[in-house]
Amino acid sequence: MYTQLEQRGMPEPPVNVSTLQKMKLQGVPIACLTAYDASYAVLVDAAGTDLVLVGDSLGMVIQGHDTTVPVTVNDIIYHCRTVARGLRRAFLVADMPFMSYTKPGMALENAVRLMQEGGAMMVKLESGDDQVGIVEHLAKHDIPVCAHLGLKPQSVHKIGGFKVQGRDVDKAAEMLNSAKRLQDAGADIVLLECVPNEVGKSITSALQVPVIGIGAGPDVDGQILVLYDILDITQGRTPKFVKNFQAGCDSPLNAISSYVREVKARDYPAPEHCFS
Ligand code: KIV
Repeated sequence: MYTQLEQRGMPEPPVNVSTLQKMKLQGVPIACLTAYDASYAVLVDAAGTDLVLVGDSLGMVIQGHDTTVPVTVNDIIYHCRTVARGLRRAFLVADMPFMSYTKPGMALENAVRLMQEGGAMMVKLESGDDQVGIVEHLAKHDIPVCAHLGLKPQSVHKIGGFKVQGRDVDKAAEMLNSAKRLQDAGADIVLLECVPNEVGKSITSALQVPVIGIGAGPDVDGQILVLYDILDITQGRTPKFVKNFQAGCDSPLNAISSYVREVKARDYPAPEHCFS
């Protein structure tokens, strides 16, 4: 009766929250990427990516905006639905866009839409102490949640740019406390963006749930990057943590496979991709 999630004619069952938890416990690095359409979703899944995020980065890499702020719930649903069609094994997470989770009821309504209409298995929200009640409300309704800390791109206009977070000792301690509170509120995963290696390491060792990093150093449970950044599609200045995996590869599938291999071998990130 409960076999539909495991019977897709695959050698390995699809990834779920328990798989990710087990990977943390066993020290197996979790390879994650963003995707925005079915064709790339097929490649990302075939390369062995464990978790795929339909990120609001789509506002920048797909829609051509300067920030993620203009992205709507309907935009994420549209892209999530297309990605869901391309995945077989990877776990699918959808971003909750700017201002779509300011109240518990509103957050629940939008999270339900991302799951029912978009096919997401988890929602991600940019979080801090102010979002503890929201995460609790979602978790109480069995919505799997990823809490995003560190650099929160939806706050770019408030913080004055895309900057490394947690360099200050007090700010790092504050982030660690928020991460613990969000975990206690029911977050199943924590994502850390653009923080010094030490902050990535201390939060990862303090939490029971998996910690996925983007520019958070090598000592986290998994890595995520924006697909268009690793395929060298993004033009202009890219963040320090980005590595071009397309260089020297003859196809996008080979480039994505090389990223997954390097994450699994802990070869990525190298010191030049990290913050101190
Ligand atoms: O929107 C996004 O793609 C993200 C990643 C940068 C983690 O949140």
